[in-house]
Amino acid sequence: MEKDGRHALLVDGAPFLVLGLQARNSSAWPSQLPKVWPAVEKLHANTLEVPVSWEQMEPESGRFDFTIVDALLREARAHRVRLVLLWFGTWKNGSSHYIPLWMKREPQRYPRMAGADGRRVDSPSPHAADFLAADTRAFRALMRHLKVADAQRTVIMVQVENEPGTWGGLVRDHSPEAERLFAGPVPDALRARLQVKAPAGATWTEAFGKDADEFFHAWSVARYIGQVAAAGKEEYPLPLYVNAALRDPLTPGPAGTYETGGATDNVLDVWKAAAPAIDLLAPDIYLEDSARYRRVLEQYARPDNALFVPENGRAPFYARHFFTALDKGAFGWAPFGLDFTAYANAPLGTPEVTDEALGPFALNYALVGPIARPVARLNFEGRVHAVAEEKDAHTQTIDLGRWTAVVTYGVPQFGFGRDPKGNPEPIGRALVAVLSENEFLVTGAFCRVDFKPSDPALQREFVRVEEGGYEKGVFRAHRIWNGDETDWGLNFASGPQAVRVVLGTY
Ligand code: DGJ
Repeated sequence: MEKDGRHALLVDGAPFLVLGLQARNSSAWPSQLPKVWPAVEKLHANTLEVPVSWEQMEPESGRFDFTIVDALLREARAHRVRLVLLWFGTWKNGSSHYIPLWMKREPQRYPRMAGADGRRVDSPSPHAADFLAADTRAFRALMRHLKVADAQRTVIMVQVENEPGTWGGLVRDHSPEAERLFAGPVPDALRARLQVKAPAGATWTEAFGKDADEFFHAWSVARYIGQVAAAGKEEYPLPLYVNAALRDPLTPGPAGTYETGGATDNVLDVWKAAAPAIDLLAPDIYLEDSARYRRVLEQYARPDNALFVPENGRAPFYARHFFTALDKGAFGWAPFGLDFTAYANAPLGTPEVTDEALGPFALNYALVGPIARPVARLNFEGRVHAVAEEKDAHTQTIDLGRWTAVVTYGVPQFGFGRDPKGNPEPIGRALVAVLSENEFLVTGAFCRVDFKPSDPALQREFVRVEEGGYEKGVFRAHRIWNGDETDWGLNFASGPQAVRVVLGTY
């Protein structure tokens, strides 16, 4: 749902916050699920993102096997968790390794892309009609099955393909069909979207110059996936998205040094024009640098694109940036691969998945879980603010109109008067959601949150500070903070606490 350029994912009729975990690539098998659910529980996740693999789902052409999908539905419901299904179809990380065996046996019919010299590379051609027809039929079958098997809407969203595009330097397909299209005119929908100045009938090169190859590939991949998505949506209109392997948001380098064809930041409009059935384009963030992390969020949070971060690295660095994502309006977020199936994608993540590795991520969801529904609604209304600590920023402020929230890191819980020196590692985070002019929901970890009236003649008073959470839409306090707990501001350590605060002045 969209309003004034802000977005919400509706689940059971109300904005929902995806507190996600993405399972590893080979973790959806019933034999592995006993190693996945404990991680979901430890994380306090409310959603599992999990693959559906084409090779398993269509073992023979036209015969579909939904036993794994059904097991996922059954077990997710038993664990009271929602699902985001990841369709590992034509593309998985730029290759087509998940296509069924009967397709792998016919590489001429289901071809890989060709380079300018005719040599094939390990990436599917988006210009192969039989390939597109096969994927469309399979995805349609999956969505048709979900419509019947999931009346209770355990599945809240489906990702179409996985990080589609091409790695390895080849920027676009050079198959005969690709060459024919590339020499032809730029399609009208793209001309209109990008407000192309070149005259009608201009070719890709005439219209886009040095970007022609890259834009052509993005258009081709997006057109293909847009058609797969549209067919699925016709069966069952769930929200659909495509995830992207990013290019460096600050110093991108030339096409070919990153995955081309996918929804990188420079071709989001190409994707929007080519694949209207895709509801949103989502960044997978594996960039351990806060400036880059923030920039990616800015690039993908657009009035025409809801922000969802389906994959994050699982190193401790990423955990606090869940809060950065919320601040930018994200309706969901997930670390990748934090299950106990004994495979580690180091150097992208921690070498081993242990309870300790889960800790910083579990803390996020323990903090926000009890207030998740109101946070989702308030975020849709633009009333959620959040910060994450940085090595060189020990004090951060949030402008709330009548108030400024002041978040400090590395101060003792008791007493004023010490300069914040930061935590030994920047692990602090805080969230302030505006309920009304003087009333806020606040949560955080390893920080102090205080409020300053914008009128300097006035002083802040904590009229009431209640710790608790929401049950069935109503805030239930289980204690009132006062005395040491409020005399020096609101101090949050590692205990998951959320408070409702009423402020006054004197
Ligand atoms: C991004 C992909 O989308 C994931 O499926 C996985 O391959 C990770 N990279 C690396 O572990």
